[in-house]
Amino acid sequence: MREAFHREYLTFFERAERTRRWNVFTDVDWDQLAGHQPDPRLTLCAETFCGVEMYLPDYLRAHLELMRGDYGRAWFAANWGYEEAKHSLVLREYLRRSGARGDDELHDYTEAVLARTWQAPYDDGRRMTIYGALQEMTTFVIYRKQRGWAGQLGDPVLPEIYRLIGRDEMAHSRFYLKMIELHLAEDRDGTLADLAFVLRTFRMPAEDLLPDYDSRIEVMRAAGVDRGVFLAEVVLPLLKELGLTRHDLPRVPAEAVTEIPGPPGLLTQAGAKR
Ligand SMILES: [Fe+2]
Ligand SMILES: [Fe+2]
Repeated sequence: MREAFHREYLTFFERAERTRRWNVFTDVDWDQLAGHQPDPRLTLCAETFCGVEMYLPDYLRAHLELMRGDYGRAWFAANWGYEEAKHSLVLREYLRRSGARGDDELHDYTEAVLARTWQAPYDDGRRMTIYGALQEMTTFVIYRKQRGWAGQLGDPVLPEIYRLIGRDEMAHSRFYLKMIELHLAEDRDGTLADLAFVLRTFRMPAEDLLPDYDSRIEVMRAAGVDRGVFLAEVVLPLLKELGLTRHDLPRVPAEAVTEIPGPPGLLTQAGAKR
């Protein structure tokens, strides 16, 4: 497994270095923002995603703690952290350079976000790997939808920003998918049980930690991501990539599902069973 993880990491990193590197300062045509009036719905979404991406220190800490002693996984985490660090930064730059938020507002928002701590939903490396694949793919789908919406509303730079960061998220999801394949090859039943469990209990990270959560969730639902989209555009494609269907997954006993406290997430419609 160590050798396999290491090889996957090298493949991931080589591909990232060769084809996926981008620059916050030169790959976005910021001059296009001159004279542009940003749409407040788009800026609220950008601010929300910027906030979710800002829990990076907590995500990294959890990742590194779980993967301690595993070279491939730890080096992946370090590289992943570099890529994720640009995601909140480019959105923050958008908010600032478009004039949607002032410096003080951004500092206040950052402080409010970082005052709270994100806790990893699972304390097991394999479950967190599955969680990672789902979360990265969901983020990709969200950014793809934002990209389309920003294009329709005529924003001059947001479509490109979401394209760049969405491409990173897809690459992250694919790396986790490779890890899941390795786990399936090593312990098929245990991995299938973990897959079923994580699918049953999944929710997006940190969104309920953000200030003004309720108004954010309304706008994001309007942007078209709900439980149905999650199933059709995240869960089913991932299972298909793994050569699985829902029938391959064992039943999760109700008593095994511990509800994660907090308000209903973006992906949990009111009243729907998680
Ligand atoms: Fe990200
Ligand atoms: Fe990511």
